Amino acid sequence: MKALVLAGGAGSRLRPITHTSAKQLVPVANKPVLFYGLEAIRDAGIREVGIVVGDTEAEIRGAVGDGSAFGLDVTYLRQDAPRGLAHAVLIAREYLGGDDFVMYLGDNFIVGGIDGLVDRFRADRPQAQIMLTHVSDPRAFGVAELDGAGRVVALEEKPEFPKSDLALVGVYLFSAAVHEAVAELKPSARGELEITDAIQWLIDHGHRVESTVITGYWKDTGNVTDMLEVNRLVLEGVEPHVEGEVDGASELIGRVVVEAGARVAGSRVVGPVIVGAGSVVRDSYVGPFTSIDRDCAVLDSEIEYSIVLRGASIDGVGRIECSLIGREAEVTPAPRVPKAHRLVLGDHSKVQISK
Ligand code: TTP
Repeated sequence: MKALVLAGGAGSRLRPITHTSAKQLVPVANKPVLFYGLEAIRDAGIREVGIVVGDTEAEIRGAVGDGSAFGLDVTYLRQDAPRGLAHAVLIAREYLGGDDFVMYLGDNFIVGGIDGLVDRFRADRPQAQIMLTHVSDPRAFGVAELDGAGRVVALEEKPEFPKSDLALVGVYLFSAAVHEAVAELKPSARGELEITDAIQWLIDHGHRVESTVITGYWKDTGNVTDMLEVNRLVLEGVEPHVEGEVDGASELIGRVVVEAGARVAGSRVVGPVIVGAGSVVRDSYVGPFTSIDRDCAVLDSEIEYSIVLRGASIDGVGRIECSLIGREAEVTPAPRVPKAHRLVLGDHSKVQISK
């Protein structure tokens, strides 16, 4: 069995972060979200992984390499443009050969791994196996309609009027039968080859498609709100440890990680929080569910429930909450006069200013 990990895509919902980097590499508790998926695949006993990449190929290659650091054997498969999840299967045809495979969306996050699902698929051998979960607003997802016996009868991508509240989770198991389905597809109204259409094709042609409704935690980290929520969840499980320097004027409360080479001075840090290697937190408050990546500076400021990427600095500002701050970004106060906001924002940035 192989794995096909999708790490291309447009990432429009995570702009401007995705103008300069891959969304699959945004860190959750200071570790790229993609790495959690690769570890889950390895833990399910799979070794051969094809990673579908787009414009951010170099960055993904730089982070994952040949996969040996994960105990995996990685092959990169270049997709010329984000033409849909089923298009990724199409371009992976030769790599996958006749093998069964698990398809894993590289920005998805599942607690509890995929071992159970993979074992079930191996034992049961349907043509496809999908995972479903109840969501409050199914219109943003692929949605499944089940019959009385719990079998999937129809799937719809981002329906205006959903027939159920069961959304497809971003992990799918396929036999080689899916290649026949994918070869038959036409682009949808949004111009993509949809994986939901491929699964529908399998159902319509009498293939067995099994589904499991999962109760565990799943999130698509494609937008900031979900990214922060996943970061919260992962931080809740970190083991506190301090390898960096913490001065006597500082207070660490709860689950706090201060990595080697990080410095905390004159500050109050209320966990769960992680302060990455080489970062400085001085005369500041860092509140729960905050991840500060490597080489950042948080000086004379307050921050809570946020992710700060590598090399960013926050200096002399009031409280920041629910924020995703990009690499090398600088947040500083404006001069007192004139009383105005001064912004240098990348394309598609989003700023909320409290008045
Ligand atoms: P999505 O989040 O559905 O799509 P996207 O990356 O284009 O994001 P947005 O909707 O914000 O513009 O993709 C799920 C995962 O699959 C993600 O890791 C990107 C990847 N992907 C590909 O590799 N190729 C593709 O053609 C598409 C559509 C997605």
